[in-house]
Amino acid sequence: MSTLWTSSDLIAATSGTMAQTFAANGVSIDSRTAKPGDLFIALVGENGDGHRFVAKALENGASGALVHAIPAGLENAPLLRVADTFTGLHALGHSARARFTGKLAAITGSVGKTTLKEMLRCILAAQAATHAAEASYNNHWGVPLTLARMPAHATYAVNEIGMNHAGEIAPLARLARPHVAAISTIGTAHIGNLGSQEAIADEKASIAEGLEPGGVLLLPADSPFYGRMRASTTHRVESFGSSPTAIHRLLVAQPDADGTDLTLRVGGVELQFRLRAPGLHMASNALAALACAHLMGADLLEGAATLAEFSPGAGRGARREIEIPAGRITLLDESYNASTTAVRAALALLGMVRAPRRIAVLGDMLEMGEAGISEHVSLAADVAAHADLLFTCGPLMRHLHDAIPPGQRGAHAVDSASLAPLLLSALGDGDAVLVKGSLGSRMKTIVGAIEAALPAPGQPKDQR
Ligand SMILES: Nc1ncnc2c1ncn2[C@@H]1O[C@H](COP(=O)(O)OP(=O)(O)O)[C@@H](O)[C@H]1O
Ligand SMILES: [Mg+2]
Repeated sequence: MSTLWTSSDLIAATSGTMAQTFAANGVSIDSRTAKPGDLFIALVGENGDGHRFVAKALENGASGALVHAIPAGLENAPLLRVADTFTGLHALGHSARARFTGKLAAITGSVGKTTLKEMLRCILAAQAATHAAEASYNNHWGVPLTLARMPAHATYAVNEIGMNHAGEIAPLARLARPHVAAISTIGTAHIGNLGSQEAIADEKASIAEGLEPGGVLLLPADSPFYGRMRASTTHRVESFGSSPTAIHRLLVAQPDADGTDLTLRVGGVELQFRLRAPGLHMASNALAALACAHLMGADLLEGAATLAEFSPGAGRGARREIEIPAGRITLLDESYNASTTAVRAALALLGMVRAPRRIAVLGDMLEMGEAGISEHVSLAADVAAHADLLFTCGPLMRHLHDAIPPGQRGAHAVDSASLAPLLLSALGDGDAVLVKGSLGSRMKTIVGAIEAALPAPGQPKDQR
């Protein structure tokens, strides 16, 4: 493997100084997870000053550190000194992008970014050297970090770009300079900060400002904001969706509780396969991923074969059977995150599970500002259509609890920890249980409580 960052590349990229030269084969901003040979970047942020952890990172095998002050006792350590480490990280991302010879995709959207990124990564990695962030590294440090870790000669790279506030996406897109920029969905996540769905659509569409000359913006054809987003750029636009006008089209989707039998037409090629990640939202992500892969030059038939093996990650729809004292239940673990769009998709999926009772367990969807109450109440129709019982926690979900017919009400509690015992005592053999809520609502506590409930004596605990 060739060196990711030689000492001269590090110095040239950052305009820094190095008393003792070193090279790096990785980049880390967390001393606890820094790997041997990494460059450790001492960022100053919410979690304190990274300069305090430089010694620790070097002990863990980091080959050197990017600093803007020399920590005491480390005067002779391998350090790359710059004016500001955050700017230094940006400079590394910028330089890594400039030397990159492959094709790069950037993914944004209200929900589905990480899933789309993971699907695309799988498709591309099966065909050629591919670089992508391991996690949702999509913000002001996640995007430059992902770029700084990018090998110059990978064939493909995939970046996720997110936002909490208006104006955040365009600068990150300009740093990433994608050949293909894709928007998974336009929903209501972060509407509290943005004000309206139009503003969200405009912000997402600003990803096109970073496109390379000749680049393509891939838009969701079924979004009511498709026309608006299309009109916002002079770059080439392609679309994906079930609408007859979509360039990359979902022709047939036969969803069941375990997956979806799909017929798609991507780049003029008809593809048929079974997607084992259940839910129509997953079918939409798969279509978008194949369209991106096609626009990046990858093979579509191989891509479809790869997606047929794809499985959703923990907390993002992973599904399993669990033995509890009352019997065996099916758990849909969606505890990782939530927005109205995502909860709707998850409820529709719950509705497809064959079970005597379908139980939705929902925690507050956060960061919705003034729209919070109405967004929560708007889920009442989806609950009525797809669930038999609803358990809720959090002050916002209280409004949904009050909005549904009394016969559908399971219980409401102030938080997930107090809801867990109420839910556990109500569960019965055969129940299908969906657990979902924003990360801050800590719905994982409920998943943990279900997992910890021991089966009745004599029953073997399920293997997981
Ligand atoms: N295309 C989609 N439409 C609606 N909901 C989706 C879609 N893709 C994913 N989701 C839901 O959103 C949640 C978060 O998915 P993820 O891919 O991590 O999105 P992001 O990275 O944008 O936060 C998933 O658990 C799933 O419930
Ligand atoms: Mg993400």
